[in-house]
Amino acid sequence: MSSTHINPEHYKAFRQFLEKSCGIVLGDNKQYLVSSRLGQLMQREGIADLGGLLQRIQQRPTGDLPGRVIEAMTTNETQWFRDNYPFQVLQDLIFPDLVKQNRQQVRVWSAACSSGQEPYSISIALQEFRARGGRLEGDILGTDIAPAMVNQARLARYGASALSRGLSAERRNYHFQRVEPDVWEVRPEIRRRVRFQLHNLLDSYAVLGRFDLIFCRNVLIYFSAESRHDILRRMCQQLQPGGYLVVGASESLARHNDDLEMLRTEGGVVYRRRPPAVGR
Ligand SMILES: C[S@@+](CC[C@H](N)C(=O)[O-])C[C@H]1O[C@@H](n2cnc3c(N)ncnc32)[C@H](O)[C@@H]1O
Repeated sequence: MSSTHINPEHYKAFRQFLEKSCGIVLGDNKQYLVSSRLGQLMQREGIADLGGLLQRIQQRPTGDLPGRVIEAMTTNETQWFRDNYPFQVLQDLIFPDLVKQNRQQVRVWSAACSSGQEPYSISIALQEFRARGGRLEGDILGTDIAPAMVNQARLARYGASALSRGLSAERRNYHFQRVEPDVWEVRPEIRRRVRFQLHNLLDSYAVLGRFDLIFCRNVLIYFSAESRHDILRRMCQQLQPGGYLVVGASESLARHNDDLEMLRTEGGVVYRRRPPAVGR
């Protein structure tokens, strides 16, 4: 399917399907992205054009095709300790503050975690905090909409090129073990506190429970302002009072939220849920 042959009506219908099913908003002129990401899948399925794909999805909405299309359209780019400062802030401010709030065990949600680098980086940051005497344990949930990403994350095995992105040799040697000449596995003491679940950010969060810390980074940039606002509002409801929300560098909360206070740090901002105020 070449991008020049995408019928404008089909493109419009496809954009609506994508936004409704996973929140991702495709720009007006992203036909090339659609053809490059769906070309192989459509060839394998014997589907000639975008109209044919939409028709197939409509005929079998509960089949596996919609999920595979969404998976192909998502950007799974990630790395270890991405942007560094959130993990520094975890060790310098967030973990010590949660200890001060008398937490011994924290529940953490890494929302839209791709292949697991973010939740494992959080677990490594916690392990390092504990090694320096911090008395805190964690239970970390990584979720993503893409089954292939969740499976990869659960496997906890990474090749040399994935490992080279953001991980120092020191951390690799300490927290990973080599299982094949070019493959390293996250060590059990880091893995034991991390689990993964398939979850769409547009769905309810009640099933996930409440959290002391939520990371939601580099995913809401693909969503509309309304979905972004709605997701952050619902995430805030899942935070325990005194709990923290960490968003991506360019995803700060545009609108004022009474329940969150903004804390400025050297590298960026993080948010903390205020305790319920008497009479508010
Ligand atoms: C660019 S990665 C970000 C990964 C990680 N948070 C980071 O900052 O490195 C975006 C991830 O969001 C996931 N995603 C996209 N839409 C989603 C949705 N509606 N629900 C859950 N995950 C979604 C994609 O599958 C992808 O793995």
